[in-house]
Amino acid sequence: MTQTDAGVEFAQKLSTNRRTEEERAAILANPGFGNHFTDHTVIVDYSVGEDGKGSWHDARLEPYGPIMLDPSAAVLHYGQEIFEGLKAYRHADGSVWTFRAEKNAERLNRSAARLALPQLPPEIFLEALRQLVGADKEWVPNGEGESLYLRPFMIATEAFLGVRPAKEVSFRVIASPAGNYFGGELAPVSIWLSRNYARAGRGGTGAAKCGGNYAASLAAQLEAEAHGCKQVVFLDEANDNAVEELGGMNVFFVFKDGTLVTPALTGTILEGVTRSSIIQLAEDRGLKVEERKITLDEWCEGIASGEITEVFACGTAAVITPIGKLVDGDSVIGAPDAKAGEVTMSLREQLLGIQTGAVEDTHGWLTRLA
Ligand code: COI
Repeated sequence: MTQTDAGVEFAQKLSTNRRTEEERAAILANPGFGNHFTDHTVIVDYSVGEDGKGSWHDARLEPYGPIMLDPSAAVLHYGQEIFEGLKAYRHADGSVWTFRAEKNAERLNRSAARLALPQLPPEIFLEALRQLVGADKEWVPNGEGESLYLRPFMIATEAFLGVRPAKEVSFRVIASPAGNYFGGELAPVSIWLSRNYARAGRGGTGAAKCGGNYAASLAAQLEAEAHGCKQVVFLDEANDNAVEELGGMNVFFVFKDGTLVTPALTGTILEGVTRSSIIQLAEDRGLKVEERKITLDEWCEGIASGEITEVFACGTAAVITPIGKLVDGDSVIGAPDAKAGEVTMSLREQLLGIQTGAVEDTHGWLTRLA
């Protein structure tokens, strides 16, 4: 049992059915993204008692396996669910570290507030990561750009069909060895411009990391794939076609004079941890960073005039991925054979360097997990 600062103890039930070293090595040789899961999971339950007070309890590390849910569980009907994404990186000495996990703990709680889920003490969030990575340390890959992707999530488990915040909730963490999100070697991706769908609206859940936002992006993602694109970009049509974000990541523009521009956080955009880290790293380099409205017209005109020299996507899963071209119906914005930009790649290298211990962590962004 391990007691957290929040007073929750973690029981440990280790798997008796772990993958063999050979099985694990075969998976780690080509992990892809989100395909394979480690041997354990962490669970912490929450219930509201007779007195109306809620508490977290029964924190435990368990063998990875299916979740038993009542068919009437609220999450299955009303989508009361939130999640996070962060990674654990293996350093050269074998130790395992995570990056700005406290930011994910804070964002989880902002998402929880929006979805009427309970607040999770950050100490429990961090201890859950430690428990899982401690048990599954061998699953952290050490290849270039590889890591163990950690997926904390919170679901409404109460068996009740009335529409109100659930009184029983479960917080869980699973882990998945990860390579490049887009598969294969890193290469510039094509982006499909969604004209038919919006990702978020004023007062909606755009700033929360909830499953519903991603479910709502899938029809547009299908359109993107049908047009040979890897991701979709959403606009705010009611606001001069302001660029918002991609299906699962934020977007940056590099201007000729070195300025970086990224859409401002208006309440409809997810506040990415990678996004805010890039802003900091760029400012450390003396680059100007503007969080502001950038419209589709500015994007198209900027590429045509050479004012915008690079565009990239960023997120925990995508890290920093160059965007080659934007496809808008029959029009293509950007050279079809665009190469990854210099600023894009050097920020990527610096960020990955900090995460993997190759570059000094001057901001104190790393926390040791194992
Ligand atoms: C992440 O970057 O961690 C995400 O959550 C994006 C996507 C995989 C859903």
